[in-house]
Amino acid sequence: MTIRAVIKGVGHYLPDRIVENSEFEASLDTSDEWIQARSGIKQRHFAAKGEKTSDMAISAAKAALTDAGLDSNDLDAIIVATSTADLTFPSAASIVQSGLDMTSGFAYDIQAVCAGFVFALSTANAQILSGQSKRVMVIGAESFSRLMDWKDRSTCVLFGDGAGAVLLQAEQGKGSNKDRGILSVDLNSDGRHKDILYVDGGVSTGQTGYLRMQGKEVFRHAVEKLAQTAKAAMKKAQVSAEDIDWVVPHQANIRIINSTAKKMGVAPEKVVKTVHDHGNTSAASIPLALSVAKANGQLKKNDLIITEAIGGGLAWGAVVLRW
Ligand code: UT7
Repeated sequence: MTIRAVIKGVGHYLPDRIVENSEFEASLDTSDEWIQARSGIKQRHFAAKGEKTSDMAISAAKAALTDAGLDSNDLDAIIVATSTADLTFPSAASIVQSGLDMTSGFAYDIQAVCAGFVFALSTANAQILSGQSKRVMVIGAESFSRLMDWKDRSTCVLFGDGAGAVLLQAEQGKGSNKDRGILSVDLNSDGRHKDILYVDGGVSTGQTGYLRMQGKEVFRHAVEKLAQTAKAAMKKAQVSAEDIDWVVPHQANIRIINSTAKKMGVAPEKVVKTVHDHGNTSAASIPLALSVAKANGQLKKNDLIITEAIGGGLAWGAVVLRW
């Protein structure tokens, strides 16, 4: 028998405020047409004044607990993937633990920017496989609107805020790729590319800073590296592109999503796409997409899913799992 980390619940939260592309036309030399054509984005959600990353994470986690029919004190651990924690410390996860009235277990953050959720899933999986935890809440939550330079049209039209959460639980499998749960993980990073996507602030500067991106360079790396990590994860799980029911990619750009699926050999109708409605929500984008796809009736029990993401670092990776 093999232990597997199986998704028992999923949930998400999006702030009320929807910002359409046309809102940017008043202050920037940009257009709805350009934004849609180059990124696929039509709108994004922005957190309200005073609404924090941890608030969104707590709402998403509560939704995932309800979906699983469990209570926060049934959890052994909370992992929050975020680059926009409320404070330098404590971790967003500690604030979420308090917000969920969870009085046992442990909580910590993972920071791998847009790939953060994939890295957090991998860490949660390792904890479950090692027997350290039986139930882990994995959350991706971000308020990237707070990192935007509103004068930089090449970045500020691309990002949005939100949170998604999945509840992983240890279950017995047979050790085959027909098992439900996480079947393989592939993680990568290459710090030589740290300067093509970064925030120019932090503890060393005394200011939060703004997101800076060489978009074309990141785009070039993204398509190549996402296809590579997806193929590596499929190989580790001993599945092929034809076996995949759904690709649930990081939602940064529709052109990256489509090109990667093509390179992977997966048909476009098997790709979950939320980028048009959410924009790029960094570490929140994959759990948001999973939750929306479940709510839409797209994901069915035993479906074979691959998630893939890349972000600042550069850091990138993929997870194959059976729903
Ligand atoms: O989530 C982490 C990973 N991030 C990503 O995956 C993002 C990767 N990059 C991208 O998605 C794309 O590179 C962008 C959407 C950022 C840009 O698309 P692009 O096709 O690579 O455009 P570009 O940067 O080459 O810019 C083309 C033109 C430039 O004008 P010139 O130099 O040709 O005159 C830009 O100045 O478009 C201009 N431009 C804009 N025009 C209207 C840049 N931003 C805008 C804008 N509105 N918002």
